[in-house]
Amino acid sequence: MSYQAHFKVWRGDADGGGLAGFDVTVNEGEVVLDIIHRLQATAAPDLAVRWNCKAGKCGSCSAEINGRPRLMCMTRMSVFDPAETITVTPMRAFPVVRDLVTDVSYNYAKAREVASFVPPPGVGPGEYRMRQQDVDRVQEFRKCIECFLCQNTCHVVRDHEENKPAFAGPRFLMRVAELDMHPLDAAAETGVDRKAAARAEHGLGYCNITKCCTEVCPEQIKITDNALIPLKERVVDRSYDPLVWLGNKIRRRGREHEA
Ligand code: SF4
Ligand code: SF4
Ligand code: FES
Repeated sequence: MSYQAHFKVWRGDADGGGLAGFDVTVNEGEVVLDIIHRLQATAAPDLAVRWNCKAGKCGSCSAEINGRPRLMCMTRMSVFDPAETITVTPMRAFPVVRDLVTDVSYNYAKAREVASFVPPPGVGPGEYRMRQQDVDRVQEFRKCIECFLCQNTCHVVRDHEENKPAFAGPRFLMRVAELDMHPLDAAAETGVDRKAAARAEHGLGYCNITKCCTEVCPEQIKITDNALIPLKERVVDRSYDPLVWLGNKIRRRGREHEA
């Protein structure tokens, strides 16, 4: 069964823009991205939209639909009342390039700031061994499709551009957590302190575990419960561990004597 829906789609660029109204045909089984494609094929041939897979796997078609951050290709039209006006706007936390396309380079910059996995010394390819429990734990985080909906939703940056330099966002704090809990990561042996970096370089302290990032993740990754909270716990445990405290104190004394 087909019907006519009313859409409002944000049109514009970095200099400004606004919502444009369209009446458009919707067919049974369609998703919001189908409707955007129909608009491109009919009333708005120059409408800019980013997409690739139409299967919820490439992470390109992120936008806000009726104000909620979602993948356009995974949002069925059947979830809306046919009489409802459907508003599609670009992700709010990132600068607009044109129409529904945003500049997500903030995320790539943050990805580059996370030190890579360091293979354990003396262990050859094919000789890596870890417990299934540890595999399962990090595997959840590897489901990330880098849609950046969590980054877009996190209130730390959504309305606070000024926090971006100091805050990696949930997706990349999750990456830090993944590496920090990886039993084979040997970064510490190369002088990389992931827990210290989580706090000092990636802004872990800005996160107040509201779980908004988890709510919008299309892969249903429990970002807050399984990555951010355990990372916070490990950082705090380390800070208040009496042996670590004693070690730091001795090191500080040593430096004072050398000076
Ligand atoms: S839980 Fe933390 S990272 Fe996630 S949205 Fe809330 S403040 Fe941001
Ligand atoms: S963690 Fe989820 S919401 Fe965030 S980028 Fe990955 S898939 Fe998207
Ligand atoms: S087009 Fe690939 S996730 Fe939507």
